[in-house]
Amino acid sequence: MTLKKPINLLRGWPNPSLLPTPAILRAAQSALSDPSISTPGLLYGPDPGYQPLREEIAKWMSRFYGGEPDADRICISGGASQNLACVLQVFTDPLKTRVWMVAPAYFLACRIFEDAGLKLRAVEEGSEGIDLVALEEGLKKVELEEGETKTLKRTTPWGKVYRHIIYCVPTFSNPSGKTMSLSNRQKLVQLARKYDALIITDDVYDFLQFPTSSATSASSLTKALLPRLVDIDRTLEPVPPSDSFGNAMSNGSFSKIAGPGVRTGWAEATPKFTYGLSQCGSSRSGGAPSQLAATMMTELLKTGELETHIQTVLCPAYKARYDLMITSIQTLLVPLGVEIGEVSFGEKAVFGGYFIWLEMPDNANIESITDLAKSQENLIVAPGHIFEVSTDSSVKFERSIRLCFAWEEEADLKESIVRLARVIRDVKDGKKGGKEKLGDKSSIKQDLGEFQ
Ligand SMILES: Cc1ncc(COP(=O)(O)O)c(C=O)c1O
Repeated sequence: MTLKKPINLLRGWPNPSLLPTPAILRAAQSALSDPSISTPGLLYGPDPGYQPLREEIAKWMSRFYGGEPDADRICISGGASQNLACVLQVFTDPLKTRVWMVAPAYFLACRIFEDAGLKLRAVEEGSEGIDLVALEEGLKKVELEEGETKTLKRTTPWGKVYRHIIYCVPTFSNPSGKTMSLSNRQKLVQLARKYDALIITDDVYDFLQFPTSSATSASSLTKALLPRLVDIDRTLEPVPPSDSFGNAMSNGSFSKIAGPGVRTGWAEATPKFTYGLSQCGSSRSGGAPSQLAATMMTELLKTGELETHIQTVLCPAYKARYDLMITSIQTLLVPLGVEIGEVSFGEKAVFGGYFIWLEMPDNANIESITDLAKSQENLIVAPGHIFEVSTDSSVKFERSIRLCFAWEEEADLKESIVRLARVIRDVKDGKKGGKEKLGDKSSIKQDLGEFQ
């Protein structure tokens, strides 16, 4: 039997054809040929990061999300993952801080929390992006059962230890694709203020939005669909005093819009919070990460090339890929009893990000589907259980799978669904899928090594 062409729908990377390589080359050339840029770029930089990039990002955030630009609210990071680790170092304590993660969760964040000595609890995503009733019950229970708690770390004037961290991906979530409603965003900020919680959001997919129907014109999508939680915390009455740490922090990243290898991002929060973050030990020793890359990203933003790339290349490409995949799913999988995950975003027919979340039919065993897809069809898909919160499996995803439409060649996306349909049919009919017929289960675990 000849092996089928491998198709990997687990990998959450951009297809290489979508990388803005020529624009980054121009940006690098421009940065490196001007000593006023290249010299600071190649030396140690300031703790909050390369100042021109902070300013360019502040202006860009204002164009996209609204509000007045304020560079003091921006801190340059080594990307969303690296920055999450720094936030936890400065603003949490293993004895005092409790973490609440929206499930299904971005699986790779779990270890970052665990590395910081923190225990995670799962909160269901529900239909509106977070189950606020369950969350508040949990927050109250911790207050009641644990009361006042000591801290392990010494206190510092630049940081504060939050009692709770709430982590979520509110827009076009990884893995569910879901967008949190505006009212849930507002109520979540209110809850965070009430219970001394810091909301950490990975807002890394916000720019990748596209209309799902021809009724919405593409030009209306140059602005954010909804405010970030950090924007709500900035404006929701009673507006916090200007010298407060605030209750929300946003992780931005160039990974999904310029390239993950850039390993550069930004944090946005109140000026007091971003100053505290910049005092993280690893930034105090040598300055914020990604200094040289920051000079190049500054050029990319200054010329407008990054925004043009997002608007003219990425959003249309992801729309075409999503349309292709969802049409195939509707034609081939829905008749087999597969359900497409609900992704509410108000009135607008807009979708975005990288992922489609599916519920398999009741009588189809997920392990059989993912293993058979690998062994019979050379197709890798992500089983729902890997998106459970690592230290709290009370919220389970035994019938779900996640498909990424960003990585594989566009031409292979339809074929991937044809293969998946064959597998589901076989498993449902009971023709295949008994344990004895499955491929090596550890193979999916190996594939997780390159999962995002
Ligand atoms: C929700 C989420 N957060 C963070 C990351 C990683 O971001 P970065 O490359 O900036 O560390 C990803 C990448 O898949 C992601 O999906």
